[in-house]
Amino acid sequence: MDGIAARKGGSPADKYGIFIYPGSFDPVTFGHLDIITRASGMCGRLLVAIGRNREKKTMFTVEERLDMIRDVIAAHGADGKYDLSNVEAVAFNGLLAHFAKNSGANVVVKGLRAMSDFEYEFQMALLNKYLDDQLETIFLMTNVEYTYLSSSAVKEIALNGGCLDGLVPACVSERINAKILKMKEMNQ
Ligand code: PNS
Repeated sequence: MDGIAARKGGSPADKYGIFIYPGSFDPVTFGHLDIITRASGMCGRLLVAIGRNREKKTMFTVEERLDMIRDVIAAHGADGKYDLSNVEAVAFNGLLAHFAKNSGANVVVKGLRAMSDFEYEFQMALLNKYLDDQLETIFLMTNVEYTYLSSSAVKEIALNGGCLDGLVPACVSERINAKILKMKEMNQ
């Protein structure tokens, strides 16, 4: 890939563009990691950005989610098979379009699992374009292995004692189990 046009006024170093992959990441799953890995190869810098979804009550704090994403990126890049050195985990408040502009990001990346994701993502992409006409949204089709996977399903499985192998990295399942234990202790 020859690179996507940098934002107007961007530096030549931005020639491969800064991409932003926003989400709740509550918690980060293998499906997210697949999108992170593929998107990181398409841009100069990839910001994995935790935003606020007003519709969702989260299991993890923003700091906990940032820690998990950072650990997962470090572990995934550590075996030398993937170079994720251009990936950074960040958090933002307010509108994604404003955060993207302030970060110099010109492309929003989202994963699409099925038609059911499309309507919501299409609306988000158009709203973000309305807010900033220099901001493009691109979609990566999810790896077929992960079409059924979501953070909500992971939490549901964990809360009911199911196995998380193959759904989230080990460092994430450890944190989920610790969180559930803590929640149970607090409810006793
Ligand atoms: O993983 P999610 O829950 O689908 O992520 C949604 C998120 C956080 C990317 C989205 O809600 C978001 O961008 N929130 C910030 C506010 C915003 O810009 N909304 C879009 C315009 S209404």
